[in-house]
Amino acid sequence: MRYFVFLTICRNFVIANKLKTTTPKLITMKKTILSMVALAFLAMPIVAQTPIYLDDSQPIEARVQDALSRMTLKEKVRLSYAQSKFSTPGVARLGIPELYWSDGPHGVRMEINWNDWNHANWTNDSITAFPALTALAATWNPEMSAAYGKAIGEEALYREKDVMLGPGVNIYRTPLNGRNFEYMGEDPYLASVMVVPYIQEMQKNGVAACVKHYAVNNQETWRNHIDVNVSDRALYEIYLPAFKAAIVEGGSWTIMGAYNKIAGQHACHNDRMLNQILKKDWGFDGVVVSDWGGTHDTKEAALNGLDVEMGSYTDGLSVDNSNGYDSYYLGNAYLKMIQNGEIPESVVNDKAARILRLIFRTSMNRNKPFGSLCTTEHYAAAEAIGNEGIVLLKNAPIAKKAPALLPLKADYQNILVVGDNAVRRLNEGGGSSELKVKDMVSPLDGLRAIYGNRVKYAQGYAAGQPMYARVNEVSQEVQDKLRAEAVEMAKEADVVILVGGLNKNHLQDCEGGDRQEYGLPFGQDQLIEELLAVNKNLVLVLLSGNAVEMPWIEKVPAIVQGWYLGSMGGKSIANVLSGKVNPSGKLPFSFPVKLSDSPAHSFDAMSYPGDGIKQEYKEDILVGYRWYDTKKIPTTFAFGHGLSYTSFEYGKAVASAKKMTADDKLEITVKVKNTGDVAGKEVVQLYIGDDKSSVVRPLKELKHFQKIALNPGEEKTITFTITVDDLKYYDDIRKDWTAEAGKFKAYIGASSVDIRTVVPFVLE
Ligand code: BGC
Repeated sequence: MRYFVFLTICRNFVIANKLKTTTPKLITMKKTILSMVALAFLAMPIVAQTPIYLDDSQPIEARVQDALSRMTLKEKVRLSYAQSKFSTPGVARLGIPELYWSDGPHGVRMEINWNDWNHANWTNDSITAFPALTALAATWNPEMSAAYGKAIGEEALYREKDVMLGPGVNIYRTPLNGRNFEYMGEDPYLASVMVVPYIQEMQKNGVAACVKHYAVNNQETWRNHIDVNVSDRALYEIYLPAFKAAIVEGGSWTIMGAYNKIAGQHACHNDRMLNQILKKDWGFDGVVVSDWGGTHDTKEAALNGLDVEMGSYTDGLSVDNSNGYDSYYLGNAYLKMIQNGEIPESVVNDKAARILRLIFRTSMNRNKPFGSLCTTEHYAAAEAIGNEGIVLLKNAPIAKKAPALLPLKADYQNILVVGDNAVRRLNEGGGSSELKVKDMVSPLDGLRAIYGNRVKYAQGYAAGQPMYARVNEVSQEVQDKLRAEAVEMAKEADVVILVGGLNKNHLQDCEGGDRQEYGLPFGQDQLIEELLAVNKNLVLVLLSGNAVEMPWIEKVPAIVQGWYLGSMGGKSIANVLSGKVNPSGKLPFSFPVKLSDSPAHSFDAMSYPGDGIKQEYKEDILVGYRWYDTKKIPTTFAFGHGLSYTSFEYGKAVASAKKMTADDKLEITVKVKNTGDVAGKEVVQLYIGDDKSSVVRPLKELKHFQKIALNPGEEKTITFTITVDDLKYYDDIRKDWTAEAGKFKAYIGASSVDIRTVVPFVLE
């Protein structure tokens, strides 16, 4: 702009001087031009002073420094704490806008009141609900993750949100954790691969991701204060990799600190986690925000790396005092400590710089589009993710030589759908990930759209109203009546489809509390047994974000894991049951036979749930399949398991060499062929195990995977490239990753237990 004004002035000056004339008309023209030159000169200082921070052609760091240089101490401090439940201020005097934050991982949450947690009851905040993150992880397809991030980011833009509070990548440690449905399973590699495209695609549109809850927030019981004691090995090998991928590869602009303590210090002001690992080792230049109410101390928060404080309960706030927010830990108390020298000014400059950077990337980003809500493309993305995330757990014939029960025979005349979850609005409840959906296809709707009035419905069991922090008990009398009705109708049916599982109520798959039992709730075990007694053609569709106990497993011929699939969930389920879509999802976590088999529950109560103050992760690095594999404990369904309506044959894997050095790469190729009658997708998984090691290592660990589509008879060759990094463990004495020379094996297969080919090799 300044150059343009300068050039115009010069040009006018030259023209004016060339006009050496005496005719009155031309004299007037000369005067006009000269006065324009003079005016342009006068205007020049004003234009030249356009602040750098407002000029988005300038590098972002120059803008940050410029803005900082114009701000008072008070203005810098004010950036660091909430002005409402879900917003933080900008600098009004300088025209720097506020930031609007919103849950959550699976869709843009409905508006919440400015100063309290009640729904604001707006009429323009209904959205597309996307499948919960367990379902996304179950696609094992990073393209689905990219589609997810793009679509949810566009909805956030339309709703004028700058930061989306998700995705969550806490590791699945126990099947009881009420929030597992919001995360991406038990394997750090799978979660790392899946989280990156979500963040990248969302942020391309100027909406910040906020990866959460950093870190080791693996249960809801005592989540606000439990002090987790976890070894460095488990931290680096299991609990941190997905966060690191989100920050280093995904480039997440924000991260949320967890509620719990880690090694005695709250995660939201944990020096080691925030200052050392996140900001120093991973080079994070974005904003650390507290979980809502996760801040507990001014000085510790200020010095240990927290940048923005949200959701604290203060005396001021509880009476809606106009100064309530100033009473936050990073409010007046923080300002005072800087003024009296207890906290150095460099701390406030660093925090303000990070927040300004976030503002320039999001709310003050003039290049971002306007976004869109509930578009055909968003529904299509939700459906596609659902289609690929559904896992066919079991599909057996009900008699010898009969075909498998699924896909459903097209000529069934009487299809009985049973279950509360067939009609329930599962986007409601669950805590902060609750959603107000514009449209939703329930499983019953989805099946009726294909089979019309051949579909009948019986509720079978009742789960009560969606509730947060309270349990709504349904009387035994009601349950008995519903069960009897369903069993009676099942006698006549060609096939019974029970859509059951958990739901988003308190003490199910819901924030704020853990599940109290591993088995299915609301009398569903009894319902299953009684339905089976009158009709063997039973398909069980489980909607949940967690594994459940299956005492009837041998008797139920077909079981489908249908997660929480959001707006288009019923359509995806009907697609898979009818065979319109060939299932290709694989489990992102194991289903132990019984709770006591699972690693966190194999020890005393100090391992889970702790004693109310402390907790120790006694299984250490042996989380999920790493435990079952190494300890040789059979599971009901293993990590990576998922069937298809076709079959895949694996060839013998071949390595490019028998030995590798630390600087080499080893290529492993394997042929996979679709040997069935229908097109399908297979997730080819590669695990690596160290034959002999000086430390405890899992039998094998997932290191690569590829999802491929194959037509009937088609064969593809897949190549995996192994580097020394795939062979390393975290050495907590040397405080670094290390690989020991010796024999390794690459295990390639269709799940962590269905290994089809093994290649030995040596690291020299
Ligand atoms: C949850 C976060 C959520 C925040 C805001 C907290 O209770 O733990 O995941 O983003 O509330 O709703």
